[in-house]
Amino acid sequence: MSDVPPATTAPAEREAASGSPGPAGRPVTGDDPALRAAYRLCRRRTKDQDPAEYALIQLVPAALRPALHALWAAANALDDLGDDRTAPAAERAARVAAWIAALHRELPTGASPDPVRHALVDTANRWRLDLSELRDAMTQVQDDTRGRHFADWAQWRTWGRDNLLPWFGLVRTVFDRAGVPVALRLDTRETYEEFLDGVRLTDILTDLAADLAQGDLLLPAEALDLHPGSAADLAQRRWSPAVAALIAHLTGLARQWVTQEALTRGMHPGPATVLHTMAALLHAQLDAVDAAGPALLNSPPRPALRTRARVLAPARARAALAWSLTPLTVPPPHHPGSPGPPAPARPAPTSTFRRPPPHPSGEQPPAIPPGRLPAHVAVIMDGNGRWAQQRGLPRHEGHRAGAGAVREVVHGALDIGLRHLTLYTFSTENWHRDPEEVDAILGLLRGELAEDPFRDLDVRLRWHGRAGRLPPDLADLLHLRERTTRARTGLTLTMCIDYGGRDELTRTAAALAGRARAGHLDPALIAEDDFARHLPLADMPDVDLLWRTGGEQRVSNFLPWHTAYAELHFTPGLWPDTDRRDLWQALTTYTHRQRHHGATPAAAAQLTPGVTK
Ligand code: FPP
Repeated sequence: MSDVPPATTAPAEREAASGSPGPAGRPVTGDDPALRAAYRLCRRRTKDQDPAEYALIQLVPAALRPALHALWAAANALDDLGDDRTAPAAERAARVAAWIAALHRELPTGASPDPVRHALVDTANRWRLDLSELRDAMTQVQDDTRGRHFADWAQWRTWGRDNLLPWFGLVRTVFDRAGVPVALRLDTRETYEEFLDGVRLTDILTDLAADLAQGDLLLPAEALDLHPGSAADLAQRRWSPAVAALIAHLTGLARQWVTQEALTRGMHPGPATVLHTMAALLHAQLDAVDAAGPALLNSPPRPALRTRARVLAPARARAALAWSLTPLTVPPPHHPGSPGPPAPARPAPTSTFRRPPPHPSGEQPPAIPPGRLPAHVAVIMDGNGRWAQQRGLPRHEGHRAGAGAVREVVHGALDIGLRHLTLYTFSTENWHRDPEEVDAILGLLRGELAEDPFRDLDVRLRWHGRAGRLPPDLADLLHLRERTTRARTGLTLTMCIDYGGRDELTRTAAALAGRARAGHLDPALIAEDDFARHLPLADMPDVDLLWRTGGEQRVSNFLPWHTAYAELHFTPGLWPDTDRRDLWQALTTYTHRQRHHGATPAAAAQLTPGVTK
């Protein structure tokens, strides 16, 4: 069997360098028939379900193939569970959740009764892959069971990338660990992600018939609307001029996305050959989609075998040469319970993030020692309406300008190293505004979340507010951004949306009452920290500085618990006119405040030596 994991590093290297198993490459799984069978099953499934991907994996040295088959088969198994229309959506979601939970239980044991998970846990342990990186992609499969609608390409892109990037990330880690880093330079990241958009779109076009048969249409309304009638025709599985034009438009886009010459610049020729071949196969697949015509709505089109052979034959020769240039390091088998060799140091998370663009004036933040900076600034962004009124514009234009100020101030917070910024974006009282204005604010939020202007910055997004009253697609987007940014450690940006302070306190009191009624808490002993622990965002730190723009001097039901000892800062300027320099000014002002927290200044200095708060 050519692709079961080899026993030791040296034979594996020989095996890898030659692209086929050497005679000494006796597989470690020889004494574990279940594991051998598990890897064999993954290989067979990849071959049957995705012949093109299987052919690509064949371009990789044999020692790396089992890991790639396992990853591929696991992604497919999970997708199939979520897609299996013989079960209702809730049941499918539950099956996906159970699969994920079992995986986490099995990971430390190194084994699973499910063959695909067995191969996956072995691969993860052997290559020291952090499967928690898949958490968001897996949760997304669970969410997909409820059906998907994409208003525009931005939403579609977010969905596709959140699903594909983590799996491709693990494949890259396998290459890295084998000594063939596929590190992407920051300037090729967008290229890489767009390439994956092309992979996703080609896949959706290929599987159009199957998706339509299930009532799914995984294309954004923005694209369908360009070809009026196409959505209705597709739903009826009717080939029409509108559908033909839509398909031609989409194959054109996908071709453009998968044609990324810059992607492999400077890359090791091994993975570069795989990526070039992948692009060539995707082009062949898109040609087949174009050539299919009405048949596209009945079955998945496939390129002719000779077309694939024309791409693959020279690729095999190039790949064999390319991989022979570098000896590979293949990890020895991992025995659960043994610590294994230390993982190579991961780059500091911040190194993968961009710096925010500088302020147009070139002004730099003031030099405030980190110990003197407030940890948490909360902002009441007031004055959008007046800003618009002063210009004879509708109020929603003020909010639009306000969204620009939000980006600016977030950039300023990153520039200066602020840890927590919390913005009062939509209050529980704001529902009483004119419905048009409410729609405009929620629409702006939707747009900002879909566009994701902070995606390359070290910003973790959190949502604080009532669940259940926001439009579900907006709540989904908020959850998605929360999930995809939760490992970031720079600035925590909390958006208070459908937030009210009294509502927060009331819900906290209800949670405490519930706990007391259940016998977990004695009401007579409830202390402040019990209350704090039951707040909806229990780990949010106290606010050090509460800043309100727009000239009013009120706190307006904003974070009553957290602002108990906050310094207050009121400025006359309207929020849309605010930029990062106003934030820096607010921070400078804060450093001159004497904070006592109710103690005398001397006692306060004793409590926090060196800093008079
Ligand atoms: C208060 O100004 C502001 C709001 C109620 C909404 C805040 C929303 C934004 C800043 C834009 C959305 C943000 C993002 C991140 C997309 P006001 O309308 O009460 O102003 P006024 O007091 O002058 O009438």
